[in-house]
Amino acid sequence: MSDLLITGGRVVNEGRSSEQDVLVRQGRIERIDSSISPPSPSCKVIDASGKLVLPGLIDDQVHFREPGLTHKACIRTESRAAVAGGITTFFEMPNVSPPTLDMERLEEKCAIAAQDSVANYAFFLGASNENVEVIKTADPTRIAGIKVFMGSSTGNMLVDEEEVLEKIFRHAPATIATHCEHTPTILENEEAARRRFGDEVPFSEHPKIRSREACLRSSSLAVELAKREEARLHVLHITTAEELSLFEPGHDRITAEACVHHLWFEQSGYEELGSLIKCNPAIKSANDRAAIRQAVADGRISVLATDHAPHTWEEKQASYFNAPSGLPLAQHSLLLMLEMAKEGCFPIETVVERACHAPTRIFDVQDRGFLREGYWADLVIVDPEKETVVDESDLFSQCDWSPFSGTRFSHSVDLTMVSGQVAYSEGKPTDGHQGMRVEFASLRR
Ligand code: DOR
Repeated sequence: MSDLLITGGRVVNEGRSSEQDVLVRQGRIERIDSSISPPSPSCKVIDASGKLVLPGLIDDQVHFREPGLTHKACIRTESRAAVAGGITTFFEMPNVSPPTLDMERLEEKCAIAAQDSVANYAFFLGASNENVEVIKTADPTRIAGIKVFMGSSTGNMLVDEEEVLEKIFRHAPATIATHCEHTPTILENEEAARRRFGDEVPFSEHPKIRSREACLRSSSLAVELAKREEARLHVLHITTAEELSLFEPGHDRITAEACVHHLWFEQSGYEELGSLIKCNPAIKSANDRAAIRQAVADGRISVLATDHAPHTWEEKQASYFNAPSGLPLAQHSLLLMLEMAKEGCFPIETVVERACHAPTRIFDVQDRGFLREGYWADLVIVDPEKETVVDESDLFSQCDWSPFSGTRFSHSVDLTMVSGQVAYSEGKPTDGHQGMRVEFASLRR
């Protein structure tokens, strides 16, 4: 592995932003300083003058569909889309087929990723109404965390028995990440919509069906359980203003995530984009979006992520009840975050805190997520002067469509480095290198 020296870029890291050089050796950051000379003639120099140098993003919520759903996506294709978007590490969700409900299945996914992933990887162990014993005995160093679908979504993974939830929260050996939507409320709303519209429910009804009440009721229960059982809880993809009052800035045991599509779109988007932005939880109102952006700024939202959830174009052409929820996001997530930063929603330093540093702390990731001497060299170089216009011919996700087609972003991802190796440059993922399995601390409760 050759040495690499990145010179002249504006390093944004740990709340600060300044011009620094970064020397990478044996996959790790050896030095960060205002002026570093190449240590040897063979050291490759990357001129980052005028560019931003950020830690690579740690996306704590993606669906890469392998095994079993590979007609939609697979680890190889989606990890390539991830590095094209500046994501260097992903935590993948258990709603694949068969679902990841035990450590054997989880290790099978790791084995696929060890062959195929160009980004660093970790996997959530899924919860079910039946696998509490598996959760209790899971090795916390080998899992991203425990994923609990407290509301049903893609896949059949609802955990709805309160005694089971209690046990999961009591015994989980690592951070619990929840999908919170109260399913009985949603089913009632679906019936009401059916009575009104028959089978042809307009997509604009989605936020009323997957309602704000459904979100708040479920998130409130998750937070109550976490407090009672002293669990570490991370509530995924917050979509309503009301839920934000459940979280406090700086709290490190009960935290919340916001996803880029909920921060970018608002519900009027369903008129134009219909099923393409149908997702669970639903995109809510412009007021909710403004409130969540504010919470990203003030820290009630700790983490920015994607919930990257590709489905095929054909699947997305179905009518309301048959079109699956979820959309591909990984390739454009950093560009969306930087666009919002440019619009003044929050500073770039906050993007780095929420998308890189906070997932490291919340999930006890070892040696990644910060630009620090001795840490793995996971980083992304962004050109703030070069626009990206989203063109379908440039997409790396297997589903080959994007809700952002034609959108103009003011930044572009120049280069992504994963564990000291160039994983994406000149508009293409550079194949022929592997992502690494993420290591987690052993004490995680
Ligand atoms: O919209 C969603 N799609 N939300 C989820 O929770 C699951 C995801 C998927 O797997 O398709």
